[in-house]
Amino acid sequence: MSDLNELETSLLASVQDAADDAALEAVRVSALGKKGTISGRMKDLGKMGPEDRKSAGQALNALKDKVASAIQARQQDLREAELENRLATEFVDVTLPAAPEAAGSVHPVSQVWEEVVQIFGDLGFAVAEGPHIETDWYNFGALNIPDEHPARQEHDTFYLNPGEDGSRMVLRTHTSPVQIRSMEAMEPPIRIIAPGRTFRSDWDKTHTPMFHQIEGLVIDEHTHMGHLKWCLEEFCKAFFEVETVEMRFRASHFPFTEPSMEVDIRYHEEDGKLTFGIGENWMEILGSGMVHPNVIRAGGLDPDKYQGFAFGMGLDRIATLKYGIPDLRGYFDGDLRWLKHYGFRALQVPTLAGGLS
Ligand code: PHE
Repeated sequence: MSDLNELETSLLASVQDAADDAALEAVRVSALGKKGTISGRMKDLGKMGPEDRKSAGQALNALKDKVASAIQARQQDLREAELENRLATEFVDVTLPAAPEAAGSVHPVSQVWEEVVQIFGDLGFAVAEGPHIETDWYNFGALNIPDEHPARQEHDTFYLNPGEDGSRMVLRTHTSPVQIRSMEAMEPPIRIIAPGRTFRSDWDKTHTPMFHQIEGLVIDEHTHMGHLKWCLEEFCKAFFEVETVEMRFRASHFPFTEPSMEVDIRYHEEDGKLTFGIGENWMEILGSGMVHPNVIRAGGLDPDKYQGFAFGMGLDRIATLKYGIPDLRGYFDGDLRWLKHYGFRALQVPTLAGGLS
């Protein structure tokens, strides 16, 4: 009998020690399973005399019940512990606010920059770059603007202090120096755009001392002015997201193009709000023309063999038109209220497939 007591103690201890369902099942099989200890003892009953068999049978049945209910109780405990654990770890604080909106916004210039790159990229243009601080040669000389040329004054240039040799670097007044740098770096056919910052000492409703331009340059053996017009029309339709665009090509003059044209676009202004497409006003958005032979030569190419067109467009200006932003100065005030009002949602990159804006 004491042997049965021992068995009971050890079985109940194993049940209590079982840390999970699998361990508990192992204990059950080892005690109550077909080949388990208790089942083994049951089989031995047959060898006993009737009296012994009766008392031993009762004791074994009692033990069997005890162990079975201990297993059940342990199982219940394990379930509850597991639930407790899940409730503690999978806790959801319903009082927390929902995921916040991204706090920043995309500046209209960045947005328009991306849009323009998308459109010209689709037309087969690659993006080129140049430095903000330029030599006099790249900003003026190579672009057929000699020392005494009036364009130098018109550009309201920011000059740096002269270097030891007396030469002065400039903050580039336009993106046109990238024309020269691209001709030096590439073999025709060349098709590039160069968006970037430009600088002129100027400050009013339509001028800021730092502003953005995008240069376009196509150089090969056959490109003519028809290509230029088509290209700009395609651009305007895509950019302003309209079927037709009323553009005005006005004869003009730039030292680096011959012939030269300025391009205006129609707009309407009411209560300080601008609407594109309709209206009685024209806004100049870009300068363009056929690249001057002297410029092609300065870029290291043969003007008798190569020709092409160039254009330069104000990114801030076209952002103004498309998104109805009346005063250019607000662009660079760093006023958060302005950015909230005119900014674009962060992480939403403009694509042609997505309709750009
Ligand atoms: N660089 C000129 C400007 O800043 C624009 C331009 C570029 C004109 C290319 C013609 C060709 O006004």
